[in-house]
Amino acid sequence: MKRAVALALALLAATALAEAPRSGLAYQGEDIRRLQADDFANPAMLWAERGAAAWQQRRGTANKSCADCHGAAEQSMRGVAARLPAWDARLQRVSTLDQRINACTVREQGAAELPPESEPALALQTYLALQSRGMPLRVAVDGPAGPVFYIGRELYRTRIGQMNLACTHCHEQKAGKTLLAEQISQGQPTAWPAYRMDWQAPGSIERRLRACFLGVRAEMPAYRSEDLVALQLYLVWRAQGLALEAPGVRR
Ligand code: HEC
Ligand code: HEC
Repeated sequence: MKRAVALALALLAATALAEAPRSGLAYQGEDIRRLQADDFANPAMLWAERGAAAWQQRRGTANKSCADCHGAAEQSMRGVAARLPAWDARLQRVSTLDQRINACTVREQGAAELPPESEPALALQTYLALQSRGMPLRVAVDGPAGPVFYIGRELYRTRIGQMNLACTHCHEQKAGKTLLAEQISQGQPTAWPAYRMDWQAPGSIERRLRACFLGVRAEMPAYRSEDLVALQLYLVWRAQGLALEAPGVRR
């Protein structure tokens, strides 16, 4: 009986913590919300335009453009960004949108890898994310993606850095609280790539995650590392049902 009560209380506590998923936009100021809502004012839209140009550009030893193989991105890439990261048969691992773009750049076009956060990498990510804007996030975490999902979930709960905090301590236990003049959100991945005022530039979700590592004075995982991919898979699973809103704007 005592055990049953304890269990019921523990369950109550668990459900109290798990509030409904909410986009980080809800925690931003009115100015940011207005910028994101207006495609003509949203500075990240410039990168989507550059991505549209890069989509048509012939590159590499194959002298092929993305469009030569994929046709109109509005059709072929619709929904793709909303279901990544996912198991990748070509690379034989879980990969992100950024990594799929790069796999095509290197293997299909015969061109050099696009460095992380470089203009072509961000422009193509932004352009392709835009093709899924408004679509609900949904990733598969069963099958071959399963082990990576569990690594991501574990990382989310592991204390890191000199501040000895895990993602969950800020984004689940302190969501809505203010930290250094910034409201802590649930840490949802819906906005990325996004334009961040603090950077005066657009960036990928990996850059945002690295900033969180730096914030707790932890060593930053490398771009495109297994840890960052696993965290992204877990984050998108956790955000399931929320709409992709990229390209977003954040403080
Ligand atoms: C010390 C508190 C803290 C910790 C720990 C922390 N973050 Fe953050 N994180 C922030 C703050 C502050 C922001 C910017 C405001 C916001 O959107 O929450 C942020 C932003 C984010 C965002 C962007 C949200 C959006 O809507 O743009 C994501 C995603 C995120 N964090 C994920 C993580 C992950 C994954 C971890 C663990 C590796 C982590 N954070 C650890 C404080 C933290
Ligand atoms: C020579 C043809 C070719 C070119 C050029 C090419 N791709 Fe691909 N792309 C493919 C093939 C084939 C696949 C599917 C691989 C597989 O089955 O996993 C693919 C897959 C993708 C995917 C993953 C789609 C999904 O459903 O997960 C993305 C994103 C992508 N390409 C983007 C690009 C971009 C961006 C460019 C230009 C920089 C490009 N591709 C150039 C052939 C090409």
